[in-house]
Amino acid sequence: SKILAYGVREDEQSAMQRWASQHPEVQVDTTDVLLTPENATLAQGYDVVNILQAGIPVGESTLGQLDQMGIHTLTLRNVGTDDLDFDVLKKYQFNVSNVPRYSPNAIAEHAMIQMARLFRHFKQMDLKVYRHNLKWAPTIGREVRKQTIGIIGTGNIGRVAIQIAQGFGAKVIAYDKYRNAEIEAQGLYVDSLDELYAQADGISLHVPGLPENHHMIDAKAIAKMKDQVVIVNAGRGNLVDTDAIIAGLDAGKIDGFGMDTYEDEGGLFNVDWEGKDFPDTRVADLITRDNVIVSPHTAFYTWTATEEMVEQSLDAGLAFITGNTPEQAINY
Ligand code: NAD
Ligand code: COI
Repeated sequence: SKILAYGVREDEQSAMQRWASQHPEVQVDTTDVLLTPENATLAQGYDVVNILQAGIPVGESTLGQLDQMGIHTLTLRNVGTDDLDFDVLKKYQFNVSNVPRYSPNAIAEHAMIQMARLFRHFKQMDLKVYRHNLKWAPTIGREVRKQTIGIIGTGNIGRVAIQIAQGFGAKVIAYDKYRNAEIEAQGLYVDSLDELYAQADGISLHVPGLPENHHMIDAKAIAKMKDQVVIVNAGRGNLVDTDAIIAGLDAGKIDGFGMDTYEDEGGLFNVDWEGKDFPDTRVADLITRDNVIVSPHTAFYTWTATEEMVEQSLDAGLAFITGNTPEQAINY
């Protein structure tokens, strides 16, 4: 049996090769090109196509070609299924899997580090020091333990973010449509987003980018937040109305913004723009602000997460090949 993995980075190769050597019954080939309608024919002769979300829609023009080649198994190396057209997957009866749980600490750590950096004005201080300005004032920070941190979404990642925030000694409050028993037992839930907005000094988003969550953080939501609020989005770009955030930063209502995911990140993030014309004026503006930290969707990007993503996605592919349903299968 043969698996073709698209969009494989150099840092994924060792995990790919290790898995392949442990499973000699399967041939694993990799390519650094992404799965696009133009590149779909590379999968001719394979049983499984393995991809990483890259902001490129996977719909009729790609899946129709895979169907023609007799390929009906698509395994994702990541959580988010935002790129997938499930109506088309259903039409061609694809087996689909993602990696619903890989090192949630990777993302939670990143989000809480951004939050702490924003409260302590690290970027302002770093930029000053870089200019050889070693004066303290006016870059005085807020201690995280004195803040109320609001976690929206208490799934795998949100729950680890709660532990980290508690490690700082912060008061944590949380909101989720579906409550988790452990978080409930700790008494952390508030009853509504409005309540969370009214109480939180820092807000971190850990809900999926479903259509119903589109722009959940908009001008109306920001108006309900405390003055000087710090917001971190390592969830999905579409959760946040970026223009409303910029207006909130301009008005001084928002004291800091950590942007790991961005609503127009497809084709922008994970590209080296150094020395080239930067195509997104909004992001160009945000990057220059000393109270905004932009990271190009790198919250997940650790060795541990990468190894787990590769291994679990290949395990899922092998399970499908052998006629089994992996635990990572998506029941769509
Ligand atoms: P999860 O499914 O375990 O948890 C998501 C939680 O959000 C669930 O408990 C769900 O009930 C809740 N939820 C959904 N909509 C809600 C709403 N409107 N209001 C309140 N709660 C709501 O997911 P997870 O593994 O914790 O991942 C969370 C998100 O993190 C993913 O969906 C993905 O978008 C994002 N993510 C980002 C990165 C990154 O590198 N930045 C990496 C992986 C995942
Ligand atoms: C995910 O796993 O969904 C992520 O956000 C990571 C990214 C590589 C797509």
